[in-house]
Amino acid sequence: MSEVSWIAAPGAPLRGEVRVPGDKSVSHRAIMLAALADGTSRIEGFLEGEDARATEAIFRRLGVAIETPAPGVRIVHGVGIDGLRPADGPLDCGNAGTGMRLIAGLLAGQAFDSTLVGDASLSKRPMRRVTEPLARMGARIDTGEGGVPPLQVHGGTPLTGIEFDNALASAQVKSCLLLAGLYADGATVIHETRPTRDYTERMLAAFGWPIEFAPGIARLTGGHRLRATDVRVPADFSSAAFFLVAASLVPGSDLLLRRVGMNPRRTGLLHVLRLMGADIVESDAGEEGGEPVADLRVRYAPLRGIDVPEQHVPDMIDEFPALFVAAACASGVTRVTGAHELRVKESDRIATMAAGLRALDVDIEEAPDGATITGRADGVGSGRVDSHGDHRIAMSFAIAGQRARGDVVIGDTANVATSFPGFLELAETAGFSLRTG
Ligand code: S3P
Repeated sequence: MSEVSWIAAPGAPLRGEVRVPGDKSVSHRAIMLAALADGTSRIEGFLEGEDARATEAIFRRLGVAIETPAPGVRIVHGVGIDGLRPADGPLDCGNAGTGMRLIAGLLAGQAFDSTLVGDASLSKRPMRRVTEPLARMGARIDTGEGGVPPLQVHGGTPLTGIEFDNALASAQVKSCLLLAGLYADGATVIHETRPTRDYTERMLAAFGWPIEFAPGIARLTGGHRLRATDVRVPADFSSAAFFLVAASLVPGSDLLLRRVGMNPRRTGLLHVLRLMGADIVESDAGEEGGEPVADLRVRYAPLRGIDVPEQHVPDMIDEFPALFVAAACASGVTRVTGAHELRVKESDRIATMAAGLRALDVDIEEAPDGATITGRADGVGSGRVDSHGDHRIAMSFAIAGQRARGDVVIGDTANVATSFPGFLELAETAGFSLRTG
């Protein structure tokens, strides 16, 4: 991938209305379940980002016809639960951990062999968290050395349901096992002490698969069928998060974020920003495609440091890079604990954020499971930071630039297209000073 850099600088107050693209988690799952359903499903609000498109391309290679009548719309001609065909070579998940881990569960239940590969970042990410419980179900999957991709999935092995304690609080692990459970004999039951996002459960129910679920538990049995249905993908809270933080930090901002997905397992950042003093008001709460949505009006407010309550960690796991920037511009000390999982995201997000913030003169101390950040209400320094190809790190430093005392040059930003195509343009419209350089 060619190296793309951005230059962010102190910008104007953020104003007007913004609608961020469709939810990445929901887009992946919509393609998967529509592909395996009987009949034709229409997906609206599909994320036109590289991660979701990689999943779409994989299902095409597995024999599923998918039309694109307009941007953000997909018509998926489902092949039925046993209708996938072997692909003619390795299946490329790109940068997407969600794609690889969920598809591994589905492929474990097929009659044929498959190989899953990913980009340089995904090729370093841990896969034993899914291959070990899948092996307990009877699956045979070989990983690369050290438990990383590629995954060689051997089909044709009968699966049996298991009871599993999702101790890592990973929605990807839970979802992988539930999807393998569609093909298993008996019940697959997932227990969670710290509940995670429940899109797989909700969507299985919407496609007519019998499933019982509540925070902390999900249970299904194999041997049913999926019925085609239409899916409306809500706007991604994780993409909205960058604007929530930016508008909270830039004096004079008053920004409206339209129809944001408000699944309670995603909105931890909202609670934490409010604890820090943010002024964010929800209105017009409603539902789109079975998911809660609302408009969020965010106005500038001086933030203060806090100890982030660990109970919110799973509900904001993707929002820590943005939160670190909020903490760097808040008065006082912010402590993050219980967030070990940040070490194994698209980059080691604790190390990457610490290195970048230090380059901007921020006082940050790393811990194995978080960090302590001593903020300054007058913002961050100027300098050069590297996003290590991590989309959320790049966007977080774009926010930092809006409260910097000079230019912030952000290296390796091309992967923003994995989750937020058009971020730069949308951010500029809202008032960011951000350009490629
Ligand atoms: C996701 C789950 C989370 C999150 C990722 C999307 C999902 O990962 O970080 O961006 O769609 O299930 P983990 O399950 O590894 O925490």
